[in-house]
This record gives sequence, structure tokens and C-alpha cells, in this order.
Amino acid sequence: MTTEELRSMAIAVMRKNQQETDGFRYTLPSASSYPYQWLWDSCFNAITYSYLDPEYGKDELRALFAKQWPNGVVAHMLYWQAANMMPFDWGGPEKTSSLIQPPLIAYAVWQLYKTTEDSEFLQELYPNLKKFHEYLWRERVLKGRNLLGIVNPDESGEDNSPRFDIAQNLAHIHDVEENQKRRFALFDTHRNCDYRANECTYQFFWVEDVPFNVFAIASLEAMGKIAEVIGEDPSEWQRQATALHDGMRKHLLEDGSCWSSSGAEHTLIKSDTWARFAPLFVGFYTQDEAKALVEDHLKNPDSYALPYVLPTVAANDPAYDPKEPDWGDAWQHPHWRGPVWMMPNWCVYHGLKRYGFIEEAERIKTCSLELIAKSGFREYYHPDTGVGMGALNFTWPGLTLDMN
Ligand code: GLC
Repeated sequence: MTTEELRSMAIAVMRKNQQETDGFRYTLPSASSYPYQWLWDSCFNAITYSYLDPEYGKDELRALFAKQWPNGVVAHMLYWQAANMMPFDWGGPEKTSSLIQPPLIAYAVWQLYKTTEDSEFLQELYPNLKKFHEYLWRERVLKGRNLLGIVNPDESGEDNSPRFDIAQNLAHIHDVEENQKRRFALFDTHRNCDYRANECTYQFFWVEDVPFNVFAIASLEAMGKIAEVIGEDPSEWQRQATALHDGMRKHLLEDGSCWSSSGAEHTLIKSDTWARFAPLFVGFYTQDEAKALVEDHLKNPDSYALPYVLPTVAANDPAYDPKEPDWGDAWQHPHWRGPVWMMPNWCVYHGLKRYGFIEEAERIKTCSLELIAKSGFREYYHPDTGVGMGALNFTWPGLTLDMN
């Protein structure tokens, strides 16, 4: 597929999902499946727009802040319009959910700045970004940990990943409805705690998740650069980025990989998912650690080197369950339990390149483009057959434009 073909496909999908409400422009992840604006989806969209239409990308991020809470929270779902789809109570006040998602906003803002050099845009969004990052450090860090925690699996963006099975008492193979029921039960704890995460909600679910912390580091680095351009003091953001690096090394690194930790006892969750590669994105591992990860895991045909990469769960992990392409019941979707998604592909592609693993990075890129050529812009793909699954006209495959 040529870049021009990819661009036209991406433009068509973005157009199908674009919305305008109350003077704000944003993009749904997939109009037929997800009727709201979502936090990290909008960050990915903004990255894609940096190649297609940077002005739209800026508006997409402005819209995210339109419903920012007074305490700094940017919710993971913004309800711009009432919708009958997804009729669940996500625990928040009327206009948003009560959760957050991986904090990639500053990273996306910086990506748009790189193409537009529009420092006024940085100036405009900085107060909101600052409030959001202040919230994270104030309310998402437990004493003495230097790591950010999430209070619901959905805050990782990988809702039903096996990384959250132990914390929710779920068996390796279980029913999707059961999984959802437990995630939704957590919303009551949120409300009852008045949304005070590190003072109250953490007692019911607390995971220091690896990709969440990695994306926070990437955004804090961007915050530092943004502050420098607009003449603000970058030191607090640089300090936090270093603190998270240190926290990950001290608390999450074992046997050559980072593992998410669960609960107030901080038990390491040794579930073999793509998350072990995520720290490559911010240069966390040493060159030797990275080499061992690539040789022993990324290139291992029993775990990650499947016909289509990168499976979100290792094929030899007991929780690996990407389902057959014709699994039937749409609600029994495998989601984050094995299928290939474009966000991990994008993240690991950049991580590998950073360490000079060019061939391995190119394999991820080639595979991603093959998946799009074969199955279109889908939510996720089967790692053996490349069959597209989940939502149609999903925006994330646009991230392949940023694999360069
Ligand atoms: C699914 C994904 C989540 C995403 C949302 C909207 O719930 O797991 O990461 O933000 O869909 O696309």
C-alpha cells in the first residue's frame, strides 16, 4: 500500500467519524460502535491529524478540555450528545464518565506543534494541561511509590486485559459479561469515595500499570518541552518524568521486564502481555535489557512472533484467547486478550527504532499495513489470520501514518 492510498483511507475514515457539537469539533473512535469522544482516542486522532489536517487535530484536543473537571480530571468519555448505544452508567456526573485514560494529551499537543510550530496553541492549552498533570501527581500516586495508579481496568485503555484478572478475581478464561460486571461494580466505589483516588478508591482497585506510566513519562517530557517554548519553568515536569523512571526501575522491574503491580501490597502481575515492550517507547530499558526482550520474547514464535504481529497477549500465556474470527456473539469479543491492535504496534515500532532494532520495527510496520490492506480500519485483528474484528471504520489504524 502506498502512503497516498493509506492517507486517502485515513481521510475517509476520519470524515465518517467527525462530529461538531456546541462549536467543538472532535472525532468518534467509530460512529457505529462508540458514540462519544474518548480521551486517548482523541490523542491518537490528533497524531493522525498531524499528517492530514493539523487544524482539526488542534480542535480535537481543545474539545477534550471543554469538559475538564474543576480538580483537573479529563474524563475518558465525553458525552457530547445523548446516545442509546452503551447504556451503562460510567459513574460520572452528567456530561462525562468518572474515569481517566492514559495521559497522552501533552504528547499529542507536542506532535501537532512539531508540524505547525504554533506556539500560541501551546500557550492556549498549557493551563489545562498543567491542571491535568497536577491532578495526576496529587491524586494518583501512593506515598513513597513514584508511580501513577489506576482505579479501574478501563483507565488503562485495555479494559479486559489479563493484567487485571488477579485484581478482579477472574480466571484466565472467563465470560466477557462477568468481566464487565466486575469493572462496572467499581463505579460505586468511585462515587462513594467522592472520586478521591489515592485517599479512598485505591482500596478497591489499584494497579500501577506499565503502559499508563510509560505514556505519562512521554507526556511529561512533552510538558517540559512545551514549558520551555512558552517561557514557563519546565523543572517540575522533568522531575516527575525522572521520578516515574526511577519508580518503574525500583518497583516494577523483575527478570528483565517491567510488570504492572496490583493492590496496596503492590504484587507484581506476571501476565505476559505486550506491556513488557511498552517501556522501549521512552528508552527505559538498557540496550542489553532491550536486546534480551527482543530476542527472547518479541522474536519468539511461541509467544509474540505470530503470523500477524503484535498480539496483545503472548500466545503461550494461559489467558491468550483471541477467539475464532466467526466467534458469533458480538459481546463475547476478545478485545485485549490476544488480538493485534494498532496502538501497541505504533508504540513498540517507535520503541524498537529508538534502540536501533530497525528490522524488527519494519516487520511491525509492514504487518500493520498488510492488516489494513486485507481488512481495513478495524478495532483489532486476529493474529493468525489477519481477519478484522470489533468496531468498523475505527480511527486508530491512522497511527500507521506516524510509523516513519
Ligand atoms: C474500547 C477500548 C478503549 C477505547 C474505546 C473507544 O473500549 O478498549 O481503549 O478507548 O474502545 O475506542
